[in-house]
Order: sequence, then C-alpha cells, then structure tokens
Amino acid sequence: MAKILVLYHSNSGNTRRMAELVAEGAGQLERTEVRLKDISVADHTDLDWCDGIALGSPTNYGSVSWQMKKWWDEQPIENWGRRDGKIGCVFSSAGSWGGGQEWTCMTLMSLLINYGFLVFGLTDYTGPRFSAHYGAIAAGPPVEERELAACRRLGLRLSEWAATLIEGRKEAHPLNQTYDRFGYLASE
Ligand SMILES: Cc1cc2nc3c(=O)[nH]c(=O)nc-3n(C[C@H](O)[C@H](O)[C@H](O)COP(=O)(O)O)c2cc1C
Repeated sequence: MAKILVLYHSNSGNTRRMAELVAEGAGQLERTEVRLKDISVADHTDLDWCDGIALGSPTNYGSVSWQMKKWWDEQPIENWGRRDGKIGCVFSSAGSWGGGQEWTCMTLMSLLINYGFLVFGLTDYTGPRFSAHYGAIAAGPPVEERELAACRRLGLRLSEWAATLIEGRKEAHPLNQTYDRFGYLASE
C-alpha cells in the first residue's frame, strides 16, 4: 500500500475542499491508503507514517498561513533529516486569480524541500490554458471543472509517484498510464 497524507490548513473551507479533492484523486490508484487531516489534528507521527504528502494552505498575504508555518516550526527537531526521500506536492486557494497562489505553492514546497521531501508539479493540462505546474490552485472554492480536475490529478500523481519510487511498482509510473494528460494542450 502506498500511504498518502493530505495535510492542510483552511480558514474558511476553500483549501479544505481542495484537500478533499486531492484525497479523492489519490485514492484512484489501487492499493493506496489515504489520510486526510487538518493540521489541528495531525502531528509528527503522520509525517512518519506517510510515503507521500500533499500539503495545502490558503494564500494569506501572498504566502502560507501563519498556522501552517507554525505547525512546521513546531515539529520535533530531532525528526528533521530523518524523513528524507518521501514524495511531496502542494496546493493553495487565494481570493482571486493572480492573488499569489503560486507564491504560496513555492513556499509550501520550500518547507517540504527543507524537510527532505522530493517535490513535484504536474505537466498535465486539466483545462484549456490551465495546468498545475507548481501545484493545484484555485480562486476561492474550487468549482470550475478544470480546478476540480487539477486537484484530483495532483492527488493521483502523488499516489503514482509514491507507488513507483517508494514501493517500486513500475506499472504505476505516470508514463505508463493511459488516461489523457495533454488533450487540452492540443486543443489550444
Ligand atoms: C489574512 C488573510 C490574507 C489573505 N491574503 C490574500 C492574498 O494575499 N491574496 C488573495 O488573493 N487572497 C487573500 N486572502 C483570501 C484567501 O486566500 C481566500 O479567501 C482563500 O480562498 C481562503 O481559503 P480558506 O477558505 O481555505 O481559508 C486572504 C485572506 C485572509 C484571511
């Protein structure tokens, strides 16, 4: 079983909805176990447990929420450097397009990189002129089909990478999948 943790903070529910979609996508790969957790109920044992993590925060003043930063700041320092090699990806909701989601994604990735995670983004398109190269993003709650699909695809890709790279399941490699990844790119 590939073990996937979807860890998020959300002030008003929009990032939580993204997290639910990411978790749904992660569960689309067979032999995957998914934990969906708000930071208020997660601790270092969840980081220890997982093979892969999807980390989500609202965009607050162009960056991660202070609650998310605090959660990482308070992780037991003795665990730092001992969780290396797990797979990571990120997602964020802001109030508007151009509101700083990708800045937040980069900061979330910075947290993961610093902790030893191997991070990735999507090459797939989930709508015309819409991708999640730096993580899944939404303006407000995810409602458009392209936003929903990006969240689900991010979760699925996390499971695929965790299964491939951690468990050695070659059939789970993204390049061995048959679903459409670039149809929207061709339709530009
Ligand atoms: C303190 C604070 C700072 C915010 N900063 C930004 C911002 O920099 N850019 C933006 O587009 N929206 C900003 N917003 C709006 C939120 O990012 C947006 O409502 C988001 O969807 C909230 O996600 P949540 O429901 O998961 O908390 C801010 C909201 C708050 C409360």
